[in-house]
Amino acid sequence: MNSPTPRPSTELRRASAFAPSNIALTKYWGKRDSTLNLPLASSISVALADLGSYTVVQPAADLDSDVMLVDDQDLDPAGMVKVRRVLDEIRKLSNSQVFSGLRSVNTVPAARGLASSASAFAALAVAAAHAYGLELDGPALSRLARTGSGSASRSVPGGIAIWHAGQQPDGADSYAEQLYPADYWPLRVLVARIGGRKKISSTEGMRLQGGGGSPYQHAWIEQCHRDVALCQEALALRSMRRLAEVVEGNALAMHASMLANRPPIIYWQPATLAVIDAVRQLRAEGCDCCFTIDAGASVVVLCEAQDARVVAQSLAEIEGVEEVLQTRVGPGARLVDSRGE
Ligand code: PMV
Repeated sequence: MNSPTPRPSTELRRASAFAPSNIALTKYWGKRDSTLNLPLASSISVALADLGSYTVVQPAADLDSDVMLVDDQDLDPAGMVKVRRVLDEIRKLSNSQVFSGLRSVNTVPAARGLASSASAFAALAVAAAHAYGLELDGPALSRLARTGSGSASRSVPGGIAIWHAGQQPDGADSYAEQLYPADYWPLRVLVARIGGRKKISSTEGMRLQGGGGSPYQHAWIEQCHRDVALCQEALALRSMRRLAEVVEGNALAMHASMLANRPPIIYWQPATLAVIDAVRQLRAEGCDCCFTIDAGASVVVLCEAQDARVVAQSLAEIEGVEEVLQTRVGPGARLVDSRGE
């Protein structure tokens, strides 16, 4: 466990960070501890270069609680509880009692299956640690981000990252680290945006399923253990064929376990299935690509750079696809000059 270097609380300062969103190649869907966001299985992700969050943290002695604006709106109470959890831990480590004003601007549309909370909490952890004068290493920042939102742990290291499930009850060994830097495999990431706000948050979905709702829960988690190993093999070989098998299989297994849940957890819309079909057709025609789906109707497609234009065009033509966002794999969370004020 990293031992932080606390500084006197007089060293408080304004700090800003950018963190990328990330897309899981093998998913996190199931918790062994829902307060600390400790997962039942490890997961692997790619960070998205320019889709993410800018967050500014300004400690202020005259505030009597933390306040946060996200895209110019007050953060909802459930979100605020998670933000306070991260800030309370930082205050404990830095021996401070000062609250902060925070402002976050997302470049990812919220609640559409694109995990805007991942980038938001990773940016919060990095900016707030700096604002309160802490010097934390990557694993410590990843653990902090994890307490806000599990998948945020993977946005801290960026590139291609693995989040170790860990075994310790306090989560000391549950953090993400980079497997490969962003330029290891110059994949393109296309997001076929489908549908409005999702009706079941990932927190609620995991809670429903964790309560014994899905008869496939055990099989799903066992599959994750195997898929994490298979995914690492595919990445080591940079083999899109092998990656497609594990990434698509893992996402479909997750959604199968949700569909079988009582009550059912259904995120898909007709366009979701249409995109799946299109990707399978493109691959049959020789395009190196594969799809994955998080807790939403949107579909994320990974492909080799030379195929990106053709893939993007096909996705844009599908009825129900509102927009196709295009990016590449990018680095992790970092301090930046202020933005979005
Ligand atoms: O970190 P959360 O609570 O937003 O959960 C993310 C869950 C999935 O996006 C569905 C899967 C994942 O590994 O990112």
